[in-house]
Amino acid sequence: MKKIIYFVAIILLVSCKEEQPLATLKSKDNLGFVADSAMVVSAKEEASSIGLFILQQGGNAFDAMVATEMALAVSYPFAGNLGGGGFMVYRKADGEIGSLDYRERAPYLATKTMYQDKDGNVQPEKSMFGALAVGVPGTVAGIFATHEKFGSLPMEEILKPVIALAQKGFVVTEKQNNTLARYREQFLQENKDTILFAKSYNSGDTIKNPQLANTLERIVQNGKDEFYGGETGKKLVAYLQERGGIMSMEDLKEYQTHWRDPIEVKYNDLKIISMPPPSSGGIVLGQILKMLESYPLDEFGHNSLKSIQVLTEAERRAYADRSFYLGDPEFFDIPVETLLSDEYVSGRMDNFSFEQATPSSSISYGEIPGYESDETTHYSIVDQFGNAIAVTTTLNGAYGSKMFIEELGFFLNNEMDDFSSKPGVPNMFGLIGAEANAIAPGKKMLSSMTPTIVEKNGEFYMSLGSPGGSTIITSVLQTILNVEEFGMSMQEAVDAPRFHHQWLPDEILFEPRAFEAQILDSLTQKGYNINEGESRIIGKVDAIKVLPDGRLEGGADKRGDDSAKGY
Ligand code: GLY
Repeated sequence: MKKIIYFVAIILLVSCKEEQPLATLKSKDNLGFVADSAMVVSAKEEASSIGLFILQQGGNAFDAMVATEMALAVSYPFAGNLGGGGFMVYRKADGEIGSLDYRERAPYLATKTMYQDKDGNVQPEKSMFGALAVGVPGTVAGIFATHEKFGSLPMEEILKPVIALAQKGFVVTEKQNNTLARYREQFLQENKDTILFAKSYNSGDTIKNPQLANTLERIVQNGKDEFYGGETGKKLVAYLQERGGIMSMEDLKEYQTHWRDPIEVKYNDLKIISMPPPSSGGIVLGQILKMLESYPLDEFGHNSLKSIQVLTEAERRAYADRSFYLGDPEFFDIPVETLLSDEYVSGRMDNFSFEQATPSSSISYGEIPGYESDETTHYSIVDQFGNAIAVTTTLNGAYGSKMFIEELGFFLNNEMDDFSSKPGVPNMFGLIGAEANAIAPGKKMLSSMTPTIVEKNGEFYMSLGSPGGSTIITSVLQTILNVEEFGMSMQEAVDAPRFHHQWLPDEILFEPRAFEAQILDSLTQKGYNINEGESRIIGKVDAIKVLPDGRLEGGADKRGDDSAKGY
């Protein structure tokens, strides 16, 4: 009976509308959802509600991280996961900052050329699909590391509403239904059978995942070792090895998270605190901001010709550095200080002119194909005690490798594709890499995930991040600039149209039908290659900002089903 009452409470909680419809939320200042004390913004209403519920039970932002991460795994299998990995940046109420790396890593039997044929040609499908594409998952280790260091509620209490959600089911939104339909054929192909998510659903249907509920219950009972050595781990390894995979129990048992010092960069009166390697996010974001600082962007105007040019040129140069210098710091010496030094960064824009585009070929070389759509997911949490976190988590591609372990109830990542399979050959995001990001046993693959905390005048100001592969960094960048330079509210900053350049391919990707034709014509005349043809969104930012009166404003990206909840 107690269990039934609990389920009802959770379902009511998940479906109740603390969040008003956007149209009625907007004040004359175009604010997003506003709360007095605490907030969770994530890709799915159920996950934001469960995160908020944990805060309302007296939990802190780190307890809510565990709950939100797992609730996304249940209700947003597109990117929420147990079979993937991620990064968290935090700022505690007392000003202490840090970051957690729970990125996947290469199995011990991985080799530098494992995705090349005998003639040295890269076989891209091998790093994107099937058992060889799967990196050793870090997510379960990530939630336990967070909980051990900062958690205040028992794990059992935190995961109770998540397990209830998996048992009772989540409601399929229209956008989710479209995505599931788009990937159905691939699910059937990769799993050689039907799976829970390959069934035909309609929006409004409920999907229950009792197998995932069972997995989570065993994790509550047995702790982290359930995944990294217990029944769940054994089933995971057996599943992969039956399908030609190379992951072993040793890989799981020896998986490690890392607490790392975040990247800190000053921009005007802001301090940007973001993810260090093995994510490129913090360094690339920091380099771009430093290159931009001397330009009067506020005078140029939001998405004006000059603003687009100067952002594009800074992005081009920073992404070129990313390709050569960045990888797993445990395996490769990264010149972090030099890459972010005033001396180095100030010289990078010397050859830029507003008259003419700088061709990427003059910075480096390469012929690169296109991009993929947005994957990964980000959530931001601020608790009633003043702690703030920014967390980005991923399976890499949409639903990862598409391989779903039916008896465990979760998808597996295809994060191995984030390595450079061969120097100069692009991955699924069109990103190329060099030795720094070559495959090696036990190494973590380079990421673009950019969970970011912003301080203003020494106080917590914003928490933000985004999915979107290579476009994550530029989405976070534009959101910060929209607030700082163009005076937007958090919601406006998140919703504003975005563009992206990543050095190679040498083109500016624009969100379709969102930019003035005259500006695009002027850019073409100056030698920029414009790509507005692919009907896609760039990033899906979820963010929280402190208002002048101390309340919190959420920015839940209108591009998805994203949801801000708070009290
Ligand atoms: N898998 C996308 C990233 O880590 O950048």
